[in-house]
Amino acid sequence: MKKMFLFLTAALFISCSSHKSEMDKFVDDLMGQMTLEEKIGQLHLPTVGFDVTGPRLSEAVEQKIKDGQVGGVFNTYTPNAVRKLQELAVTQSRLHIPLLFGYDVIHGHRTIYPVPLGLSATWDTELIRRIAVAVADEASADGIHWTFSPMVDIARDPRWGRVSEGAGEDPFLGAEIARAMVQGYEQGDLSKPNAIMSCIKHFALYGAAEAGRDYNTTDMSRLRMFNEYLPPYKAAVEAGASSIMTSFNEIDGIPATGNRWLLTDLLRRQWGFSGLVVTDYTAIAEMENHGVGDKAQAAAMAINAGVDMDMVSEYFIDELPALAKAGKVKQTTIDAACRRILEAKYKLGLFADPYRGINEERAATQIMNTEKLALSKEAAVKSIVLLKNDHRTLPLDASKKIAFIGPLVHDRCNLIGNWSAAGNPQQAVSLWSALENKFAGNTFLYAKGCNLIDDATLRDKLNQHGGNIIPDSRSPQQLLAEALQTARRADIIVAVLGEPFGMSGEAASRSHIDLPGHQQALLKALKETGKPVVLVLMNGRPLTLTWEHDHLDAILETWYAGTRAGDAIADVLFGDANPSGKLTMTFPRNVGQIPVYYNHKNTGRPFNDKEKYTSKYLDVSNEPLYPFGHGLSYTQFTCSAVQLSDTTLTAAGSITASVTIANSGDCAGEETVQLYIRDCTGSITRPVKELKGFQKVALQPGESRQITFTITPEALKFYNADLLLTAEPGEFWVFIGGSSATENKATFTLSL
Ligand code: BGC
Repeated sequence: MKKMFLFLTAALFISCSSHKSEMDKFVDDLMGQMTLEEKIGQLHLPTVGFDVTGPRLSEAVEQKIKDGQVGGVFNTYTPNAVRKLQELAVTQSRLHIPLLFGYDVIHGHRTIYPVPLGLSATWDTELIRRIAVAVADEASADGIHWTFSPMVDIARDPRWGRVSEGAGEDPFLGAEIARAMVQGYEQGDLSKPNAIMSCIKHFALYGAAEAGRDYNTTDMSRLRMFNEYLPPYKAAVEAGASSIMTSFNEIDGIPATGNRWLLTDLLRRQWGFSGLVVTDYTAIAEMENHGVGDKAQAAAMAINAGVDMDMVSEYFIDELPALAKAGKVKQTTIDAACRRILEAKYKLGLFADPYRGINEERAATQIMNTEKLALSKEAAVKSIVLLKNDHRTLPLDASKKIAFIGPLVHDRCNLIGNWSAAGNPQQAVSLWSALENKFAGNTFLYAKGCNLIDDATLRDKLNQHGGNIIPDSRSPQQLLAEALQTARRADIIVAVLGEPFGMSGEAASRSHIDLPGHQQALLKALKETGKPVVLVLMNGRPLTLTWEHDHLDAILETWYAGTRAGDAIADVLFGDANPSGKLTMTFPRNVGQIPVYYNHKNTGRPFNDKEKYTSKYLDVSNEPLYPFGHGLSYTQFTCSAVQLSDTTLTAAGSITASVTIANSGDCAGEETVQLYIRDCTGSITRPVKELKGFQKVALQPGESRQITFTITPEALKFYNADLLLTAEPGEFWVFIGGSSATENKATFTLSL
């Protein structure tokens, strides 16, 4: 009876016009009935299900739900499983408070899209927003309310396995993508049955782990933090993200999860964030390893810093009652955390309908339907980056004899990449099956060539986490001999190689980032046949491909392109789609260059090959193999000189920078026109170039179009030594072109 009343009142409140105050009143009423233990129970987020990234600490979760000791769970989905747990909460706990259901829906729930690094290579924020809408629709139909996405950590070190989960190295592009994802997931109204709550992660600076080793220490100046690493988190907050996840790393010597400056002063006070703060997996417990003190101290530090919800540790439910009684944690602090969780539930409409959006019928029609599968293919096509294409080796001519060689030709398991939520690799389209669909009765040749990896210890490690890497019983020599025999019968060789998916993602750092195992040896042998060799890559990070670049004819980076990967790759290989992806992370020549990124500082001794005492290496160039923004097309684009509407920009004014882009090749294509700006002098040193805008333009052969960017003083602002956002007068260079390497420039002056 009481439960009925609760839902009815919530429904009435939701339909009222003064949404905020009605929510406050509802939460006030509810909290008025809650004991301290029940409030603390709301702060507890255990995992129930299969996907875990650490120890599974929670026991007897069902009993805890009945006892009001759980605020939400993650890793449980499907209407049936969600309904079962939700029923426990709403029918058997004293106050009938519904649970939040979270899950790592990172690049698709069941329909899988390219990994985020691949998606970012589309530079298509509208496509990314549409994907987030589709993902939310599918996930919510499966009972999910909350995704732990987007990951907006800026990453400049490709040794870090988690670069695959983010949008690369650039704060401007990262911010644009973060906004699009938050808007797509939440749709401005969490009460819509197909909207889900987003969670910005990992706050903050997780991508700057020293030496690219996951979970490692980060340490950086506030200037770098504010100018280069924080913008995407801030953009996501401004876009209305309802939650944020703390990171595992420390910041200024204090773990992020217990860092009051970060979570309260910056996030809540400066940025005005009013949503809920959840920790990363066992991050409160890990503060003991960081050395902050014992269990009680870690719990107190986290909640006093501004954490609302404890993921998995159980430190809050174990420690907060006593800490509150001892006065070490204020009752008002616990109340504030509990309120934020109840508010999230209210906004999601869970008090009105704890089973919001879930029913088997909706799941059957929304999950992996035709539209979503088509969107997955569109995204896959647009994420593919043509790194090299000498002598127009690509697209392939299907009338030629083509040998597809490599352990990934038939593969489905790796195509959907890491963090593929409830995606089923068996539903992914392999390259080979796509070729069979595309060319009935095809006569393509195939040989495996080598194993993906040969190191048995590494294989065992990856297989413990679902790697599913089954070594071929033949020796490397036998595999190679078969591949060469096959290759000799062909006119052209397509080698399909890369990393097993478990080599990127969490806890998947590498100290060498070349093609693993015998893959390069295979490529060398294939090259010796004298036939043209195309390399098709499937991987989750920038790799070192210097030998491959120097010797192979064409290289196509396809990332882990998702459920429709094979179809997309086949279309691109045979010219039914023209590649248009552009890198969002620099590809280094070797690991010694790392970190290498385009928006670096000039130094006092900038590179000069003729002078010894300048900033460079003796044994490798300063230039990366492939710069940020790089990506070729089957057609050619030419870009005119930059035209400025004025050479002076005033405080209240704006100027435009224009170029004409022409498709001077012989097929339709899409170019991403990139605008970079250099602030030549400043009160602090400024990067040699910074991305400040981009536009995608689709052109038919012979067609040209003028592309115009508007530049205002706002775009020239940066955080100065006092951490004030400001633009300073002086000279600026404007670059416009097809990658960060462009030298196509004009100059203007900002006069304030
Ligand atoms: C990861 C997070 C993830 C969480 C929950 C952690 O290990 O760092 O990104 O959201 O697990 O699965």
